[in-house]
Order: sequence, then C-alpha cells, then structure tokens
Amino acid sequence: MKVLVTGGAGYIGLHAAAALLENGHEAVLLDNLSNASPGATSALAGLAGRTAPFLKGDVRDSRFLDGVFEGGGFDAVMHLAALKSVDESVENPLRYYANNMAGTVSLLQRMAAHGVRTLIFSSSATVYRDSPELLTETLPTEPSSPYGRVKLFEEEILRDVHAADPEWRISILRYFNAVGAHPSGLIGEDPTRTSTNLLPRIGQVALGLRERLEVFGDDNPTPDGTCVRDYLHVMDLANAHIAALEFLRPEPRLAVHNLGTGRGHSVLELIRAFERASGRTVPFRIVTRRAGDAPISRADPARARAELGWTATRGLDRICADQWRFLSSHPNGFPE
Ligand code: UD1
Repeated sequence: MKVLVTGGAGYIGLHAAAALLENGHEAVLLDNLSNASPGATSALAGLAGRTAPFLKGDVRDSRFLDGVFEGGGFDAVMHLAALKSVDESVENPLRYYANNMAGTVSLLQRMAAHGVRTLIFSSSATVYRDSPELLTETLPTEPSSPYGRVKLFEEEILRDVHAADPEWRISILRYFNAVGAHPSGLIGEDPTRTSTNLLPRIGQVALGLRERLEVFGDDNPTPDGTCVRDYLHVMDLANAHIAALEFLRPEPRLAVHNLGTGRGHSVLELIRAFERASGRTVPFRIVTRRAGDAPISRADPARARAELGWTATRGLDRICADQWRFLSSHPNGFPE
C-alpha cells in the first residue's frame, strides 16, 4: 500500500513510516516541522534500504493537500500531525482547537474530495476517565484537558463521517505511553526538542543536558508512591498501525483499539531500568504531584489482541536499551 503519514517527521510518525517500509509498503511523510527537523526524515533512508519522500506543509492548507493527493495514488492516510502538550492545551486551548481539530477536518475534506477513505487516526489514552483498573474501549470517556477533549471530539467527527458515508475505513488507535526507539539507533525521539514526557527527560539527564529529574509525587496510591503507566515500545506501537491497516482491508468499518501492554511500571522503575541500560546515573528529586496526573493508567489490550492480532512484545529493558542507543549516538538530536 502507499500511505501518507502526516506528522511523519515526528517521533511516532517516523517509526510508523519505518514499520511501513519494513513491511513492504510505501510511505510519504508530510510535516510542517513545527516540532521536528528535516534531518529526521533523511535518517529513515538508512532503514530497510528504502526511502520515504518528505513533503513540508500543513494539513490545514487545503491547496497544499490537493497538490499532495492529486496523482499521489494513496491507499490510506495515517494521521499523526498534532500538538501534544497537555499543559500547553490548558493554557492555550484555542491553539489546540485551531491546530488539531481544524487540521483533522481539513484533512478529512481533502481525503473525501480525492476518494481516499482509509484512515488510521492517532488518539490517546487521555480520553478515558482515571481508573486504577485496566482501561477497556467500552469505558466512559472523560478527558481532563483540552488536549484530551480535542482528541475525543475528533473521534466523534470520525464517527459522523463514517455514519454519513459507511464506505470509510477508519481505525482509531488510543495510544498509551509511547517510549523507546528503533533498534537500529537511526531514528528516535529527538532529545533537543521540548518534551515534558518522562523518558525524554530521563534521557536528557543521562546525557547531561539536564541536571536532575523531577519526580512528580511519591504519595500516590501505588506500590512505591510514584505514578504507574503502561509504557509501550514505539516499534510495537508502529507495528500496530500495520495491523490496523490489515484489519481495515476486508471491509469498510470504524473501529477503536487501545494500544498498550496491559502492564504498569512506576517512575522509579523507569529510572532504574534506564540506569541499567545506559550505565549512567539519573539523579532525581521528589517534587509535588503534577496537576491532573492519574496515579495509574494501563490499557486492557484484549481487543487489539483479538481483532488486530497484535500484541506488544518488547519490555522495559529493551525499551531503555533502544532509547539509549539512539540518544548516545544523537546527543544533539537530528541535524537541522
Ligand atoms: C502525557 C499526557 C497524555 C499524553 C502523553 C503523551 C498528561 C497528564 N498526560 O501522559 O495525555 O497522551 O503524555 O504525550 O500530561 N513524570 C515525572 N517527571 C517528569 C515527567 C513525568 O515524574 O519530568 C511522571 C508523570 O507524573 C507520570 C509519568 O512520569 O506519572 C509519565 O509522564 P508522561 O511521560 O508525561 O506521560 P503521561 O502523563 O502518562
């Protein structure tokens, strides 16, 4: 298949493109480079002996999209282009509505106009209400931030689009915590880009770019008091996108799947695993809890296993080893 990957120069987009190439598909990367560098896309060329063309542009620009789709011959789109900071969305909600939601609407309109009606949509575990239980797709949704609400509204838009034209094939993937890097060490999450997520920050400390990690709270109702998350190797996540494409192939439908491992790890476990993998120490101090942080968040991956035939295979040690291989060979990130 020939697949357009929006947000293709970003962390997860690059790995999804790698999975496409490794599985014999073609990938074209589209990105406005607001949080990625062009060097990231050239790094892909070393993988799978093939390259993925890169187009710089914005999904809100319908004229640009028309140019992309005309003669593009795309079978499907993986839509990952979005802003992703929860804190920023609280401070500046309109930026999230204008960028993420308007971007998705614009993309859907141009896809419909050009007869491309197969979409894999990047959603998030943040659409769920907090619960210490494994989160299943049928649980009530109740996002606690504008970022999460926009994701949920976008899911609703997709349901409306599918109801109006059941020929659409739509896969909504609710990601849990994506971490790690491609085992080649050629692509990964750029350490020089701003990220408030845990593994990038641990990586910055291990590289000496940040003095110490701040651990947000050790008084949560969890075994060691630090928050527990479902950390998923980014190549497991990327391969789920291939499984989702296959799932949509036999007939038009709209489906929702959680992508996680079903296992939880605490912040302190992550720090220790990263220290083991890197041979570096990661100094940290405990600070107050971060507003809005759920103590525990873990996927029930049963539906993805049953319907997509997909399951995560890589554990924490592999995640940290792969992340460190990329970081230690790219301490200054991708070339601009
Ligand atoms: C966050 C977002 C989520 C988004 C995901 C991917 C929030 C509340 N949730 O998930 O919506 O889909 O990122 O972008 O922001 N931690 C520290 N110190 C740090 C950073 C993190 O202790 O410097 C802890 C956090 O308290 C949390 C865990 O590490 O318990 C994971 O944090 P993070 O990587 O930011 O992911 P989430 O908060 O799960």
